[in-house]
Amino acid sequence: MNKRLPQTPGPIGIFDSGYGGLTILNQIRQHLPQYDYLYLGDNARTPYGSRSFEIVYEFTLQAVSKLFEMGCHLVILACNTASAKALRSIQMNNLPVMDAERRVLGVIRPTAECIGSITKSRHIGILATAGTIKSDSYPLEIHKLFPDITVNGEACPMWVPLVENNEYAENGADYFVQKHISKLLEKDKDIDTIILGCTHYPLLLPKIKQYTPKEITIVSQGEYVAESLKDYLKRHPEIETKCTKNATCHFLTTEAENKFSESASTFLNQIIKVERVSIENE
Ligand code: DGL
Repeated sequence: MNKRLPQTPGPIGIFDSGYGGLTILNQIRQHLPQYDYLYLGDNARTPYGSRSFEIVYEFTLQAVSKLFEMGCHLVILACNTASAKALRSIQMNNLPVMDAERRVLGVIRPTAECIGSITKSRHIGILATAGTIKSDSYPLEIHKLFPDITVNGEACPMWVPLVENNEYAENGADYFVQKHISKLLEKDKDIDTIILGCTHYPLLLPKIKQYTPKEITIVSQGEYVAESLKDYLKRHPEIETKCTKNATCHFLTTEAENKFSESASTFLNQIIKVERVSIENE
C-alpha cells in the first residue's frame, strides 16, 4: 500500500490516448451506470498508434499514476495500443511498487474472449493501429484461448487522425477505409469476422460497413469490455468496494479544455465539462 495515494474509495478510471476511449466509456456506463467514472484523454500527445513501445509505456504509466493520485483504485486502459504495449509491464513492474492493491485492466483480453463464439469459418481479421498490429497482442491472446483460429491483421494509420480531427463522416475518409478493408480481405478470403481493435474505430462504423461484404460480422469491442468489467467486479469484491457509486462522470484532458469538450460532446451527445491536467513527471 502506498501512503501517498488516496486510500478512500474513488471513481473507476478510464484512459485513452484521446477520444476513442469514449466509445468504451459509453458502453461501460450503460452496463454499470451506478459507478463514478473519471475519464482521462491524453489528447495533447495523441495518436499513440505510431509511437515506440518505450514511449507508449512511459505515457501510459504517467496517465495511470495520475488516475491513482486522483483516487482511482481500478483503471481501464480503454486503448488497444496502450493495452498492447504497456499493460503487462505496468501490471508486472509498476503496480507492486505503486500500490499492489490497485488494478489496471486492458481491452484486448475481453475482446479475444468473445471471438470464439462469433466466428464460424475460424478465420478472423483485426483492424488496428500500427502499434497494436506490430505487437502481435491479438494473435497471441486469441491463440491462448482458441489455437484453431487464423488471425490476420491490418494496420490503419490514418483512421485515428480522421476521428481525432472530426473527419470520420466526410468523403475523404472513404478512400482510407476502403483501402484497408480490401487489403485485410486480400490477406485471407475466408475471414468471416473483423474485430475493430482500436477504440476510435466505432466512429467510422457506417463507412466500415459500407465497404465490408454483408456476410462478415464486425465486432466493436465496447460491449464485450463492459460485460467483462461487470463480471470482474462481481468476482473481485475487494476492488468493487473501493469504487464509489454516485453515477457521476468527470473528464480530464491534457489538451485545451474547449477543444476536448467540443469534440467529446459530439461523441457523447451531451455537453460535458472537462478539466485540463498535466500528467508528465515533474
Ligand atoms: N484508441 C487507441 C487504440 O485503441 C489509440 C489510438 C492512437 O492513439 O493511435 O488503439
